[in-house]
Formats: sequence, structure tokens, C-alpha cells
Amino acid sequence: MKFKKGAVWIIMLISVTGFALDYDWGKTGHRVTGQIAEAHLSGKAKRNLAALLEGQSLAMVSTFADEIKSDKKYKKYHPWHYVNFPFDKKYGETSPSASGDLVQGIDKCIAILKDEQASTYDKQFHLKLLVHFIGDLHQPLHVGRAEDKGGNDIQVRWFKDGSNLHRVWDSDMIDHYGMSYTELSLNRAALTKTEIEDIQKGSVIDWVHESQNLAAQVYQSAAIGEKLGYAYMYRNFTMVRTQLQKGGLRLAKVLNDIFG
Ligand code: ADE
Ligand code: ZN
Ligand code: ZN
Repeated sequence: MKFKKGAVWIIMLISVTGFALDYDWGKTGHRVTGQIAEAHLSGKAKRNLAALLEGQSLAMVSTFADEIKSDKKYKKYHPWHYVNFPFDKKYGETSPSASGDLVQGIDKCIAILKDEQASTYDKQFHLKLLVHFIGDLHQPLHVGRAEDKGGNDIQVRWFKDGSNLHRVWDSDMIDHYGMSYTELSLNRAALTKTEIEDIQKGSVIDWVHESQNLAAQVYQSAAIGEKLGYAYMYRNFTMVRTQLQKGGLRLAKVLNDIFG
């Protein structure tokens, strides 16, 4: 096959920019968060959500925000997947991004779901986004540093393959573990009622600060170019599972507050 010179450049550009940037917990991570939330909804919230989502589960809709990414029409939602602010500052101490961020995105979704004037379409759309963004909030590197795009620019090796620190945390570890989202949801840590309530305490901003603290640890966990594998999994997968569980419990809390 023969490519024109221009086409070769375009292909190279796409592979350097497009594929190098990874955004989210992979599909499995998001579905785990949705599935765990589903198990902690009040009866009333469950009924209201089932009506709005026309029977689709939270796991099912959790990946919608990624599915619309390739459509230019939804470009304005890209910055809603993450938030970057200096590690020695609290959110809001520096001016929030004018193009929006994870915190502003979650606020907007909640506002629309509470707005009696909002259309059913808008509510459905923003509910699907909210399910996704509460998940993203719990991937520590979605509250990472702007300079390296939350670890996307930190190249590492994952077993034999090229990867980056962000992708290791979004999906490489979860995929390597090899459980489906239902298996991961069922095999979550057994928590007491008090432990669950403690996790559900606080505000979105508190949870963002918690993720940023974890992000600082994640940045310490690997060096540029390092080959990561079994030992890295062993040291870090507990944090991944804990974050997915917290994401699910807190999503349930947010949804129970709105729909319960
Ligand atoms: N994904 C893409 N850009 C990002 C950033 N700046 N921070 C976190 N995740 C990202
Ligand atoms: Zn996302
Ligand atoms: Zn990501």
C-alpha cells in the first residue's frame, strides 16, 4: 500500500497525539463503580433512576461519556473528565479552568438533575455523565498534574508493552487482573455500615482532595521509563479496588440525595 507524504504525516500525528492520550478508568472500572452504586441505592432512588434510564443499569450507562468523545458535537465535555490544580493548594485557591473541569462538570450535572424545568433528555444525558464523572474522580491521576496531563506524558513499560502511568491506572492493572466488572463488584471488600457511612461523608471537593493526595503517592510509585509488572500490581492494585469501591458508594450517596 502506498501513502502520499501528507497522509503519512497525518497518521503519525494521530498516533502521537490521539493514541498517546488516555482519559478514563477503562470500561471495566467505570462499570464496577456503577454496579457497586446500584447495590447501595434506596428503593425510591432505584425506581426513579430506572424510570429515567428506561431500565438501563448504572453499569451500562457509565461508559457513555467516553462513547461520545469522538463526536465533535460533545467537545465541550472533554475537560470535565479531570481536574488539575497545584498539589500545595486546595481546589478553588487558584482560579478554576474557564473551559470547565471535573468539579464544575459534576456540579452542573447535579444542578440539571435537581432542576424541575430541565427536559427528560437533558436529565438523562447529565445523569449518564454524572455516573461516569464520579468514577473518574476516584482515579487518582484524574486529579493529577497539568504539566504531564495526569501522567499521560509519563511513558512507562507495562510488562512487554509501551504504556504510560495514566493508562496503567486507568486500565492496564484492571485488565491484567482479569476479572469482569461483575466479578470485581462482587469481590469488593466487606465493609460495616459505619465504614460505608464514613466513606460517604464529605463533599465532592473533599473527595477531590483525597484523590489528589493519592495522586502524589502514585507519582512516587514509578519512574519514567520503568518496566512495571507483577510487583507493581501487588503493591498498587489494592488502591485501585478501594477507589472503585469508594466511587461506587459515593455515587450511590449522590444519587440517593437527588432521587431518594
Ligand atoms: N486526561 C487528559 N488530560 C488530562 C489531564 N490534564 N489530567 C488528567 N487527566 C487527563
Ligand atoms: Zn472520563
Ligand atoms: Zn483516565
